[in-house]
Amino acid sequence: MSVSRSAALAARDLAVVWHPCTQMHDHETLPMLPVERAEGVWLHGYDGERWIDAVSSWWTNVLGHRHPRIVAALKDQLDRLDHVMLAGFTHAPAVELAEALVSVAPPGLARVFYADNGSSAIEVALKLSFHYWRNLGRGTRTRFVALTGSYHGETLGALSVTDVALYRRTYAPLLLEPFLVAPPDGPSRRPGETVEGQVARSLAELRELLQAQADVVCAVIVEPLVQCAGGMRMYPPAYLAGLRALCDEFDVHLIADEIATGFGRTGTLFACEQAGIAPDLMCVSKGLTGGTLPLAAVLCTADIYAAFYADYASGKAFLHSHSYTGNPLACRAACATLAIFRDEPVLARNRDLAAHLAARLAGLADHPHIADVRQTGMIAAFDLVRDRARGLRFAAAERRGLRVYRHALEHGVLLRPLGDVVYFMPPYVITPEQIDHMVAVAVAGVERAAAD
Ligand SMILES: Cc1ncc(COP(=O)(O)O)c(C=O)c1O
Repeated sequence: MSVSRSAALAARDLAVVWHPCTQMHDHETLPMLPVERAEGVWLHGYDGERWIDAVSSWWTNVLGHRHPRIVAALKDQLDRLDHVMLAGFTHAPAVELAEALVSVAPPGLARVFYADNGSSAIEVALKLSFHYWRNLGRGTRTRFVALTGSYHGETLGALSVTDVALYRRTYAPLLLEPFLVAPPDGPSRRPGETVEGQVARSLAELRELLQAQADVVCAVIVEPLVQCAGGMRMYPPAYLAGLRALCDEFDVHLIADEIATGFGRTGTLFACEQAGIAPDLMCVSKGLTGGTLPLAAVLCTADIYAAFYADYASGKAFLHSHSYTGNPLACRAACATLAIFRDEPVLARNRDLAAHLAARLAGLADHPHIADVRQTGMIAAFDLVRDRARGLRFAAAERRGLRVYRHALEHGVLLRPLGDVVYFMPPYVITPEQIDHMVAVAVAGVERAAAD
């Protein structure tokens, strides 16, 4: 019997590749799935199988795979300039992208520092904030404030301000210790408490912390509106507005990590817009290149930039670098992505799709194994539970969410639950019919996963 191309490639993979965020031993029972090509919402295997990419390949692919305008821009760029280091040299894609980002970012963000991926952007933002205070003679500021349930990446600095035990626990001895405050998300609302009351209580907690610790705090770092990898926890814009006000009052930076929420995911180009605020530092990545190439950018205010601008001998320069900083191909893909947002009604269409998704999810409120259905724009999630009415969850060790993953793959949908949190973050080219299919498959997966 001949081995299919797909099976052969999977076998070769398992002999040499070490995959991210994976216990490789799982692949003794879980299939390894080769993808030959992709188009729009679809990932295609070698043997005719295909899956709707309902998680936009780790939330990067906002506009659908191989968007023609991004593909054309990349092909053109390949014929001109592949790469040049960005120290002492520049190129049109880096300049044009910085101009485009500054023009669409919340007001006041005036400078762009490039990095290669989300985590390295967070490293840059943390270092910039610390270094800013040091350049101002306030080197006692060495601490950061993060939210409980936060996720900012896996490198040591980014992991330091991440509060997901699964990723952090093992490396805790190597990490900085942030101050943690709880955001006002649904599950932590007290019985009888209003949303406004909870926002006020959460902000009072941060105020108390800053009153005691502002002298040692560089910045508060947040994922605006949705804490994604920490379990799709959502909080209202009023909290973000309150955070901004407190950062102003206590003169500490606000770092907005828009790596997952940026580029239309929450309904506006950046989630910060919904709170009417501008952060001091903003990190973007993932959707920045439409999901084609790794790239990140840290935007900062003119005030932050000015604190580093001095005679070389002052030692104030930000001497951080990555070899591929501002890679022309990645920048060109990002320019094309921003041009699509500029020229096409992506956000308007996105809002219609979000409304369709909301209508589909509305019917799940009474499902016995589905709890806390929530949505912000094109991010929707629910918890897979043993018994919603009695408030019973499954033990994490049972890995029920993994059963949903398996079921969905068998039915042509890539869902990748975070533990028992099933979520949808599809590319914005998904159709209403595909949304219906995606949700139906998820619900059938939940029913199968919940059965003993
Ligand atoms: C909010 C947020 N910040 C940072 C990161 C890290 O980005 P990367 O995986 O590109 O390092 C992620 C990745 O999921 C993220 O969701």
